[in-house]
Amino acid sequence: MIGSSNGVGVSITGLGAHVPERVMTNDELSTMMDTSDEWIMERTGIRERRIAAPEEALSDLALPAAKESLEDAGVAAADLDLVIVATVTPDMAFPATGAILADQLGAENAAAYDLSAGCTGFMYAVAQAYGMLAGGLGQRALVVGGDILSRILDWSDRSTAVLFGDGVGAVVLERVAEGGFLGFELGADGSGGQQLYLLAGGSRTPATAESVAERLHFVQMNGREVFKFATRVLVSSAEAVLAECGRTIDDVDVYVPHQANVRIIEYATEKLGIPEDKVVIDVDRYGNTSSGSIPLALADAKREGRLQPGRLVLMTGMGAGLTWGSGLIEWTDGGRG
Ligand code: UT7
Repeated sequence: MIGSSNGVGVSITGLGAHVPERVMTNDELSTMMDTSDEWIMERTGIRERRIAAPEEALSDLALPAAKESLEDAGVAAADLDLVIVATVTPDMAFPATGAILADQLGAENAAAYDLSAGCTGFMYAVAQAYGMLAGGLGQRALVVGGDILSRILDWSDRSTAVLFGDGVGAVVLERVAEGGFLGFELGADGSGGQQLYLLAGGSRTPATAESVAERLHFVQMNGREVFKFATRVLVSSAEAVLAECGRTIDDVDVYVPHQANVRIIEYATEKLGIPEDKVVIDVDRYGNTSSGSIPLALADAKREGRLQPGRLVLMTGMGAGLTWGSGLIEWTDGGRG
């Protein structure tokens, strides 16, 4: 799916983020499994990640991030028309964490649900919210992206356990008079589904004592195949959305790629020809937070003063599905339309 703005402006007018307090360093991981700070740094660029406390569920991390984004936008929860939570680690299978969060926020006039598109979930959810607002279904949306991946990692599998972390980001989307999203490109290749999956707990393989004993409730990944896929789609998707919007890579001021691995980001950055100082990187501090990755990086960029009105921001996510998605936005100063 690809398209550019139909003239109705919709922008991100508020940003929020929340990560658990507990920091897990590579050195700590090396006391738990056969790995080392050297290997993890060299192969991924990850130095540390955050790990949720046992009593924390996704909505507990989402709530402060959502509140911060609403405050930043100056929007009351009761004025939201839509709440989407992009995640693969909801509080429970149902009700949706979106509905739980909407209730906690007091967003009583909003439709609220979850969206599952792996690490691309945030980009899919933003595009969906954009479409609903641009189509006139509502005025204000809250999109939350985040995961508590530590709950679904096999802590005896060094090939996955060292890569991921927990965290949530949130954005408020509103109609604006000028600027905002210029376009999106989203895609899926389900034939690659077996490269990154969690088998059990669904209708194909319900939870049984055997499924637990066989460790089927944990993430399985073919790292090398996902790496190849990631380097390909980060480039092709970014180029496609830029062409669709009549822009070039030189027009991009801030590049926010999915934070999975510094090597993947460096490859994409070089192939695309984006100067390093335009790239936002925080995977060193958070690891791969799946749907949390892009909004957490946006929040970091904002804190650093990099998201100024008029700047062109390119975001690309990729992940399980296999899926990918890019969005191009002319940053606005929260100006409501
Ligand atoms: O959001 C999407 C989610 N996933 C990704 O983006 C992941 C994409 N893939 C990657 O980032 C990389 O493929 C990895 C970081 C997962 C792996 O890096 P790699 O350079 O592709 O390493 P490799 O899988 O080829 O493994 C190299 C060696 C292997 O040993 P042998 O067979 O060469 O003896 C692994 O067993 O490194 C070993 N290894 C480790 N060693 C120490 C694998 N994991 C670890 C580890 N510590 N944690």
